Amino acid sequence: MAYLQLKGIEKFFGEHRAIKGIDLDIQPGEFVVFVGPSGCGKSTLLRLIAGLEHIDGGMLSLEGRDITHLPSSKRDLAMVFQSYALYPHMSVYENMCFALKLAKVDPKIIEDKVQNAARILNLTPYLQRTPKELSGGQRQRVAIGRAIVRAPK
Ligand SMILES: Nc1ncnc2c1ncn2[C@@H]1O[C@H](COP(=O)(O)OP(=O)(O)O)[C@@H](O)[C@H]1O
Ligand SMILES: [Mg+2]
Repeated sequence: MAYLQLKGIEKFFGEHRAIKGIDLDIQPGEFVVFVGPSGCGKSTLLRLIAGLEHIDGGMLSLEGRDITHLPSSKRDLAMVFQSYALYPHMSVYENMCFALKLAKVDPKIIEDKVQNAARILNLTPYLQRTPKELSGGQRQRVAIGRAIVRAPK
């Protein structure tokens, strides 16, 4: 059985059938890239998987569990946006620990996870800076760090 499985996934925006029945099996550790012309549905498909858009047809399962209509927060998936979506008034450290703080994770564990993600992403020297004091690539890595600390499936 696939780890992440898409079966006949469909999405409509009004009359427009944006996603036309996608079948895809992804195994653990597989690296998958969606390639196609602008407007073909790459972002929409990612948003459907992450739970940011309602799936209009088909089935999505993760580890054998049907998550088609599960809210985003309960899917244990993370999405990193091209446009960062960082909190501008928070430091790099605060941006990365925000989700864990909300989840009331032990502060010691939060510290370990953020430091570990910062090390992997070469962000250790920038933890006290705000996003506007970083380069585009550094900002992108903070966005990745925010996903890493949550250890999503
Ligand atoms: N919120 C929306 N409302 C209406 N149409 C949308 C919306 N989001 C995307 N679309 C349309 O769905 C299609 C796929 O868009 P998108 O997934 O953003 O494409 P890509 O990421 O491959 O460039 C496009 O025709 C786009 O105009
Ligand atoms: Mg896109």
